[in-house]
Amino acid sequence: MSRILITSALPYINGVKHLGNLAGSMLPADVYARAMRLLGHDVLYICATDEHGTPAELAAQGAGVEVADYCDQMHEAQKSAGEDFGLSYDYFGRSSAPSNHALTQDFAAKLEAAGLIEERVSQQIYSNADQRYLPDRYVEGTCPNCDFEGARGDQCDSCGKLLDPIDLIDPYSAVSGSKDVEVRETRHLYLRQSVMADDLRKWVEGHKSDWPPLATSIALKWLDEGLRDRAITRDLKWGIPVLRDGFEGKVFYVWFDAPIAYIAATQDWATETGGDWASWWRTDAGADDVQYVQFMGKDNVAFHTLSFPTTIIGTNNQGGDQYKLVDNLKAFNWVTWYGGKFSTSQNRGVFMDQAISIAPSDYWRWHLMANAPEGSDAAFTWEEFQSSVNSDLANVLGNFVNRITKYTVGKFDGVVPSTGEAGEHEAWITQELAERLPALIGHYEAREFRKAAEQTRAIWAAGNEYLTRSAPWTHYKTDVDQAAIGVRTGLNLVALFGIIAQPLIPDAAAKILDAIGVPEENRSWDFGDVADLLDALPHGLAVTPPELLFTKIEDEQVAQWTEQFGGETA
Ligand code: MF3
Ligand code: ZN
Repeated sequence: MSRILITSALPYINGVKHLGNLAGSMLPADVYARAMRLLGHDVLYICATDEHGTPAELAAQGAGVEVADYCDQMHEAQKSAGEDFGLSYDYFGRSSAPSNHALTQDFAAKLEAAGLIEERVSQQIYSNADQRYLPDRYVEGTCPNCDFEGARGDQCDSCGKLLDPIDLIDPYSAVSGSKDVEVRETRHLYLRQSVMADDLRKWVEGHKSDWPPLATSIALKWLDEGLRDRAITRDLKWGIPVLRDGFEGKVFYVWFDAPIAYIAATQDWATETGGDWASWWRTDAGADDVQYVQFMGKDNVAFHTLSFPTTIIGTNNQGGDQYKLVDNLKAFNWVTWYGGKFSTSQNRGVFMDQAISIAPSDYWRWHLMANAPEGSDAAFTWEEFQSSVNSDLANVLGNFVNRITKYTVGKFDGVVPSTGEAGEHEAWITQELAERLPALIGHYEAREFRKAAEQTRAIWAAGNEYLTRSAPWTHYKTDVDQAAIGVRTGLNLVALFGIIAQPLIPDAAAKILDAIGVPEENRSWDFGDVADLLDALPHGLAVTPPELLFTKIEDEQVAQWTEQFGGETA
């Protein structure tokens, strides 16, 4: 048994997330957490809302509410959207919590003592109309790289380049639209990432064999281009105050405090549950044996492999508390909408709250993980969603469960039959499972979600093949014992299919396991001898066909959703 600490990138507070965000961080983290718990590991899965920075302020302004109230509301909305999708966080915290204020200020003080924070004069856009500085997304203008006219101060949405607001051509205020802006000098704190470059490179290169190439290649690209020191303060009111003379009215940059909130949220978890946060995070307090795994989209990789590690290593170098660095980092490409970007304003894409209103969470979980954007971007289409649900869930799994449980009720008094001896067909399925179950576990341990879903489906399909071979219905009249072994094996396969389905489709799995009477304590992944698995249910145990497991998606629904949410041509 190991201790596994899991975090998924903290979702920005500025709205309920779309399916792409879900598929690239929270969902795979949840699936991994569930699988590792089933394998008997001690898992702590922490997430939180990322509540600072210009995205929060602009969204609050757009909604016409105070930013603190906006964050309160949206935190609850995101929390309940997560619950609707079965995200099994041990704790879902907030980066605006008092714990994160204290911890962020503490890290900053230690980095300063280590000489890794430097005060510099920098040039910022100041708006005369708004009487304030315009950091990051508060300023928009024309991208100097691709001429796109709506580029934001921190990044161009058209070409993807990271920008500095003063690079924009024809800048204007995103607050008021005013073009009456000028460049002024102001003081900010800079994190001296550049002095850490060699340490970071060694650390990243040491993970070339155990991190996905997507993660190491992004980190090394930034290092190759020469790591730049980054401003970690902003001229904003909402955020974590900088405790320093002359910095009144300034706060830390959202990307400085957000990853620290992984730790602060763990402290809040500990306060609420009586747990010991330091034993998960501090190697000087028992966290030596913890495996720390992070999940994120590719745009988050630089922050998690370079700037947050600078914060951690720099603080650790001061002596004092010793924090863990990430051990394994799973990065994802994008889920696209028919090959394009999700866009709220253009009615393209589906958000978590909408998704759950049109189909059960298991349908989404299955489809998104079976098509996880691991090797490359993965396009979402309604047609493929329909096909995942109809063929994998309804046909391969649902039919198997219904067929064998209904037959048991019809011909074997609704109980697990006790007669009949295992023969060649049972030997065949035993062999299949002996190969496939370890492979499935291996895919989960390697965090290969497409492969895990594919192997899960292959095991269900092998069960169907077994029923075709053993065909209890054709033996029933002539040799009832022969039929009985087929039914008993089939029922044990139903139980096994539910057990292996739990990480991906927890609701359907629970329905199946309840119907077949598998007690909670027998649902873990302690598989032992495969032959025993196929005769695990007590003989004579009553089974009931589960209520409808999956409803097929009709072509009319696909047509309607395409119109409602925008499909290819939106
Ligand atoms: N809010 C960021 C995003 O959605 C992710 C923050 S991850 C953290 O891209 F490490 F900073 F918390
Ligand atoms: Zn651009």
